[in-house]
Amino acid sequence: MHVVFNLAASLDAALQQAAVACGLPEASAFAPEVRTADPRHGDYQANGVLGFAKARKLNPRTVATQLVAVLSPAVCESFDFTVAGPGFINFTLRPAALRAWLDAHSSRDALARGGSAAAPVAGQTWVVDYSSPNTAKQMHVGHLRSAVIGEALARLLAFSGARVIRDNHIGDWGTQFGKIIWAYRRHLEEAAFARDPLEEFERLYKVGHAAAEADPAVLKEAQQELVKLQAGDPDNLAIWKKIGDSSLSAFQQIYDQLGIRFDHTLGESFYNDKVAQIYRELTDAGLATESQGALVVFHPEHPRFATQPFIIRKSDGAANYASTDLATVLYRVGHFHATGVLYVVDSRQRDHFDQLFLTVPKWFAHTGRTAPELKLVEFGTVTDAAGKPLKTKSGDNIKLKELLAEAEARAFALVGERSAELPEAERHAIAAVVGVGSVQYADLAQNRSSDYIFAWDKMISLDGNTAAYLLYAVARIHSIFRKLGLTPGGNATEAGASGLETPAELALARQLVKFPDALQAATTQLRPHFLCLYLYELAGTFSAFYNADKVAVDDAPVRARRLLLCARTLLILETGLDLLGLKTLQRM
Ligand code: ARG
Repeated sequence: MHVVFNLAASLDAALQQAAVACGLPEASAFAPEVRTADPRHGDYQANGVLGFAKARKLNPRTVATQLVAVLSPAVCESFDFTVAGPGFINFTLRPAALRAWLDAHSSRDALARGGSAAAPVAGQTWVVDYSSPNTAKQMHVGHLRSAVIGEALARLLAFSGARVIRDNHIGDWGTQFGKIIWAYRRHLEEAAFARDPLEEFERLYKVGHAAAEADPAVLKEAQQELVKLQAGDPDNLAIWKKIGDSSLSAFQQIYDQLGIRFDHTLGESFYNDKVAQIYRELTDAGLATESQGALVVFHPEHPRFATQPFIIRKSDGAANYASTDLATVLYRVGHFHATGVLYVVDSRQRDHFDQLFLTVPKWFAHTGRTAPELKLVEFGTVTDAAGKPLKTKSGDNIKLKELLAEAEARAFALVGERSAELPEAERHAIAAVVGVGSVQYADLAQNRSSDYIFAWDKMISLDGNTAAYLLYAVARIHSIFRKLGLTPGGNATEAGASGLETPAELALARQLVKFPDALQAATTQLRPHFLCLYLYELAGTFSAFYNADKVAVDDAPVRARRLLLCARTLLILETGLDLLGLKTLQRM
């Protein structure tokens, strides 16, 4: 039996072929729309016949019947199918086909091979621009989503066979540095600096900012420091470099906790010497014009951006966010050969990116270059129970470092309740994984477009769609094998396995073979929550199976087939959680 990875996609292709084979009019326009079905109807359902037939004044049931009569032998061997209702086609996998899928996908590599076989991104190069905080400030809760969602998407794209470049586009250039340098020269506290340089720079910025607000003479001095920096003054550059270094090393501690490793950290300053070309090319292309001393781009075809300018050079001649982002696109295409770029940013930056995405194709077309696909992966805000952006009691931003520490402390309490018998050092190690994983997962499990309420009790819990629930399911399956002295997925464990039979075995197998659909939805729609939901349902189906059917039975062929199901569940849970960026545990 030839086994494909994504059964829904293969049914779709088979139905399209059938449409040609039975001579349907305009067969090439037929989209079968095969989706995973309500389990009462089967595993997959084709919904596309109705619309197609109606638009051509054909009877949908007749068309559906014609189609199933010419389905390929491979489909007929693997599925039972019926024409239902007004013209749906329902497909139910036969037990042998379920089993063949499980046999063919016994390793992460096999899953990845299947996943990249048909993925549109396979072989393409995608730059993922994520996290990208500004220097001189500690990361706060607002920086969580970009880092977590961006990392999951980078992993998902790579799993689908794309070449992924993780680029941290830090904000390390801007007007704030004049004030920090001014304050650094006058108000630096050595001891505080030695303890936590980034915290001290953050304080110095506040000092400089307040002083400049209060006294125009200070503002002038700060502006002069900025001009000196921009002109390459070695002393100011050295202070600026210190700010960058201490910021990056603080960021790195968070990235280590979140399991993030960037390929490149090319901040805004990297593009300083690359913006002149942008001004020139956009002006030559007739896209950019001078307006009140600034260089701006309008988009006449757009209702708002026809009159709201995209400022690409400020009136004082300085580069800005737009200039550097334009230069960054050119660099990513020229240097990385990017097929596309994902920008994982807060939805409040939508205007900037809309304007950038309108500008790039026009500019590239004018210069004879192929424009990359630019996609905004925007997300909502993390809020408190009242729907306001999450802050400390005193109204400050919650530092990410402190948030992750609290997550770990809360996870430690949870582990203590559940597994008091484990040695304390191990409970701490477990809490580190559960704590950070809970925060990551709570973010990813939401549709990223919405705001979400940050609630510790829901997030760090063994009940519901949480990291702890899934991590516990993983640990439980490991313990099944550990108790039997067996390795999950080992040939010896699965040799001689008999065919799947009981309702619980079949239900679990049916859920396992739908991993590709969840993966595809999460990857193509750039929405990890589809994968979260799938994994949550899989863990639930596994529990039902485990309660219904004893695994460690004496009957060797039955035991082997149940261990096979346990091993595939474990493989898919671990692979799925890893693709989301979470670490997993063997014991909890
Ligand atoms: N530094 C920006 C911020 O903190 C985000 C940068 C996003 N990436 C980009 N290429 N503009 O809001």
